Amino acid sequence: MTERFISSTLNKKNQHRDSQLRPLSFADFPGQVKVKERLELYVAAAKERGEPLGHLLLSGPPGLGKTTLAYIVANEKGANIKTTSGPIIEKPGDLAGLLTSLQDGDILFIDEIHRLNTTVEEYLYSAMEDFFIDIILEQGPGSRSVRLNLPRFTLLGATTRQGMLSAPLRSRFGLNCRLDYYEALDLQRIIERSARILNIVIEPEGAAEIAGRCRGTPRIANNLLCWTRDYAQVKANNVINAASAASALAMLNIDENGLDEMDNRLLETIICNFNGGPVGLKNISVSVSEDEGTIEDVYEPFLIQEGFMVRTPKGRLATPKAWRKLGLKPAAAGAQPELF
Ligand SMILES: Nc1ncnc2c1ncn2[C@@H]1O[C@H](COP(=O)(O)OP(=O)(O)O)[C@@H](O)[C@H]1O
Ligand SMILES: [Mg+2]
Repeated sequence: MTERFISSTLNKKNQHRDSQLRPLSFADFPGQVKVKERLELYVAAAKERGEPLGHLLLSGPPGLGKTTLAYIVANEKGANIKTTSGPIIEKPGDLAGLLTSLQDGDILFIDEIHRLNTTVEEYLYSAMEDFFIDIILEQGPGSRSVRLNLPRFTLLGATTRQGMLSAPLRSRFGLNCRLDYYEALDLQRIIERSARILNIVIEPEGAAEIAGRCRGTPRIANNLLCWTRDYAQVKANNVINAASAASALAMLNIDENGLDEMDNRLLETIICNFNGGPVGLKNISVSVSEDEGTIEDVYEPFLIQEGFMVRTPKGRLATPKAWRKLGLKPAAAGAQPELF
């Protein structure tokens, strides 16, 4: 078996588990209280008026529940949902094909909507606002444009990079919700729910241990739950309590703050190679051999929220909390790191 095959099989397995663990209603979806309240109201109002739902944008770091919420919204609205993703829609014709296949009231879910190319994005404007698109047939002197009327659909966009959406696109969404990292108590409920679905016996303290160390992210919580189950099976008589969960997480180099190996490497790089910064994203990316986009979308938001680093106009800066975490005395810019 090639490595690629193994990784694609693992991805499939994870995707299957993702869908198995997805709550189907707001009531079954812990956390994100404010977002949920807004969505519930948005759906209830549209339902009461018997109208299609207004366009909706969900943003936030990966694994926080954007796709899950998209399906919940469709479910609670009683609407069909068709899923696609920004990079798949290459030409205006692809978009036209998708839009004309919808019925009144259907939801078109475009994941990674920030990765739509500009031409396609411009076609979306009239589609979202006035429910038509003008398609150009044939290029050159014989070209003519044909207006396609569209059903009253709902565009539901999801993005990890709200900042990369153009202002005209962003302003065409009637509601824009940003998901934030979860509180430990909500994560504990999510872990206990997932454990029930997967038939995993876990003590509340074991769930709490994982909840405190999963970067505030349900997808990571579910992954760590499954890893902890494997660990307990082989090394702890199938018991998942605080101690066995802690040992399982330690084996993955997840520290007591919930930072994983890459989080720690990023902080070490900024501090030890660049004296705490400011340092540009490009330099960091080369030093840790990780893609700039992944660092920006996946790692930085959590490190910033937890107060380990900040973004400044001159680059990334490690905070004194990060220095202390590595057992180092915060140094003035330009000085050499010094041990406590
Ligand atoms: N609030 C939540 N409650 C329960 N499970 C959740 C919640 N949010 C996310 N999950 C789970 O985490 C996984 C990732 O969620 P997903 O919606 O795919 O995230 P995103 O689309 O933001 O990357 C899914 O398996 C989902 O079941
Ligand atoms: Mg998703």
